[in-house]
Parts: sequence; C-alpha cells; structure tokens
Amino acid sequence: MNFDLPEDLVALRDGAREFAEKELAPRAAASDEAETFVEAQWKACGEQGWAGLSIPEAYGGAGLGSVATSVMLQELARACAATAVTMSVHLGLASSALVLYGNEAQKQKYLPRLASGEWLGAYALSEAGSGSDAAALRCAATPDGAGGFVLDGTKLWITSGDHADLIVVFARTSQASKSKGITAFLVEAAWPGFSAGKKEKKMGIRGSSTVEIRLDRVKVPKENVLGEVDKGFGVALGLLDGGRIGIASQALGIAQACLDASVKYAQEREQFGQPIASFQSIQWKLAEMALRIDAARLLTFRAAWLKDQGRPHTREASMAKLDASRCADFCAKEAVQVHGGAGYTKEFPVERFFRDARITEIYEGTTEIQNLVIARQTLGA
Ligand code: CAA
Repeated sequence: MNFDLPEDLVALRDGAREFAEKELAPRAAASDEAETFVEAQWKACGEQGWAGLSIPEAYGGAGLGSVATSVMLQELARACAATAVTMSVHLGLASSALVLYGNEAQKQKYLPRLASGEWLGAYALSEAGSGSDAAALRCAATPDGAGGFVLDGTKLWITSGDHADLIVVFARTSQASKSKGITAFLVEAAWPGFSAGKKEKKMGIRGSSTVEIRLDRVKVPKENVLGEVDKGFGVALGLLDGGRIGIASQALGIAQACLDASVKYAQEREQFGQPIASFQSIQWKLAEMALRIDAARLLTFRAAWLKDQGRPHTREASMAKLDASRCADFCAKEAVQVHGGAGYTKEFPVERFFRDARITEIYEGTTEIQNLVIARQTLGA
C-alpha cells in the first residue's frame, strides 16, 4: 500500500495550485461580492486544459481519472469554491454522462467542445417537488412519433444553467413506475423552448450560477436520448456517485484553505505578548482541523481510486462526501473563531469560506441522504 501521490499527480497538484493562486484567488472575492458567474476563471481553466481533464484523449481531453480530477478540484476550491463547483459539475456530471453512457456519435459530437472549454456542461435533475426524492420528478417527455421526444417542465437549482451549452436533462417517459419511468436527454441550450429562469441569490459559492431552467416544448431528436428509454434514473444516480467525489474534493479544498489561513493568522496575530499560535487552545483547533482534513482526504482518494479501477464506489463516494463536507463546515467555523472579530469581516477570506462550506453538506445529496445511502449499503438493503 502506498499513500504517496505518484510523481505525475504531484506535478498536476503543484501546477493546479500555482494556477489557482495566480488566476482564481485574486478574483474570488469580487465574484462573490458581485454574484457574477466566474466567466474569467472558467475561461482560464479551459486554456489550462482543466475542462477536459477526465475526458478521454480520443475526444480532446487529457484522459486522466478520478484521482487526478480530485487533486485538481481540491486545488481550485482552495482558491475559489465557485470555480470548483462549476468545474465539478462540468466534468463529473455533464461530461461524464457522455463518457459513461453516451454512444460513439454523441461522444464525437459533444466531448471535444466540452474538453476544450468552448462548451460548458450542466446537469438538470432536481425540481420543485423532487429534491432528495429525485425519482419523484415530473418534467414530461412525450414521444414525437419519430423516436424523439418533446420536453416540458421546470428544473431547479441548476448549476451553470444560464451559461451552459449542453445540459443533461432527466424527464419522465412513463408513469407506470416511479424510478423506472425516467429517461436522460442531451439538450442544447440553443434549442427553441429552452430558457433560464430565476437566478438564486445564495449564501455562498456566489460566483457560480444557480438557476431555474424552463423547457417549453423542447424538441429532442432521438440521437440525443442518452442511454435507454426509461432507464435514466440509474444514469442519474450513477453520475452522482462520481459527482459526490467531486463535491468531497471541493469541500476538502475549502477546508484546506481554512487551515492555511488559520495557521498564518495564528502565527502573525499577537495577544498577551505572544503569537496566538503559542496558546494550546488555538493549537488544538489547528490539530483537529488537520486531523479531519487528512481523514476526509483518505476517504476521498479511496473513492476516486475505486472509481478509476472500475469498481463499485457508491458507498465510498457517499462516505467521502459526507465526511469531507462536515470537515469543511467544521474547519470554516473554527477558522472564523481563530480569526476572532477579524474573521467575521470581509477583510479576511475565512468569512467567504464559512459561507461557501455550508452548501457542501446540501447539494449532490444532503448529509442525510449520504447517511441513507451508506445505511442501505451497510444493511444490504
Ligand atoms: N447507481 C446506479 N443505480 C442506482 C444507484 C446508483 N448509485 N443507486 C440506486 N440505483 C438504482 C437501484 O438499483 C434501483 O434500480 P431498480 O429499480 O432497477 O432496482 C433504482 O436506482 C432506484 O433505487 P432506490 O429505490 O434506492 O431509489 P430511491 O427513490 O429510494 O432514491 C436516493 C435513492 C439515494 C434517495 C436518491 O434519490 C438520491 O440520491 N437522492 C438525492 C438526489 C441528489 O443527490 N440530488 C442532487 C441534485 S444534483 C446537484 O446538486 C448538482 C449541482 O448542480 C451541484
């Protein structure tokens, strides 16, 4: 057993860290403040090749796996959690949909554009009445008589929904069964009837865009049915297994940023005639943060490694997501505490980290849903 990252991943990590510190960190506070989509950051990521990191080389990507993607996402999130979630959804949910479930023609048509960063991908599962109970979705897909479908409905909480070019949409093709009547579709944002609606005003990750999307009689040709008709719920959950490793990685990046900022501040800030890092009360906070980050990182790399081996990873992805998101929440709270009053102001980035961390316990399956997945797997249910 070897716990060291191989040389190529050390180089990837160092390159991503340098890029994130230079290109993302200086823009993160302004995107958060203005609630503007991380356009410049996304473009810079595309130029670096991050947008195609896990897309096979045959389709213009770098052909790297889930461990490499996690390494990259951790570094992006350490500088800008909003860019990291945009990238995580683009790679882990949208591009992976094609890589894992697309046919050859679909891959050839869409993957090169997604890999270059020319196109941005999104994933549309949730609706007003179907969040945790994802299979309750009602967006309707009616056969058009020529093998294609007409989509009608509204999707909610769609990351990058107003900037994406290709959206993986889940819609109901049969009323006969709840989970066995859902189909996945590849929808182009430019098609008639597709539009972005209300933009959410969020607590954190405000540089990423989260919107409602409306499908008003959107015609989807049969070539854009992803996988088999009525078998889309398995596609949705299979993708979320990988997506959750991405969110665990994002959470780890936020947690690491909290620890880094706290170590720096604790060594600089003096009280009672000495740096506050010399006080045991502060040292124990730093130690607990470091411990939890290491534990969550091991869980995350294990899930990513299993995925790269082509082995089942549902349980491990949920464990990684649950633990890393709790870790981010804990580290963000402690980082604000270490900074004292300063941490409660926008003068220091930990205020943003505190708001950004919260969502990691909510999206791509709440902590409660991760517990449910782990419990079912443990009970063999
Ligand atoms: N992979 C593939 N198939 C799976 C699966 C998996 N991980 N887990 C279950 N399935 C299959 C089951 O085998 C079953 O198939 P059969 O009917 O053929 O036996 C089918 O899916 C239904 O399974 P369940 O009965 O377990 O389904 P359920 O209705 O009880 O739901 C759930 C399970 C875990 C609660 C699921 O609904 C869930 O994960 N909910 C959370 C939804 C979620 O994470 N949403 C995130 C939105 S996307 C987002 O946030 C992205 C963003 O923009 C940042």
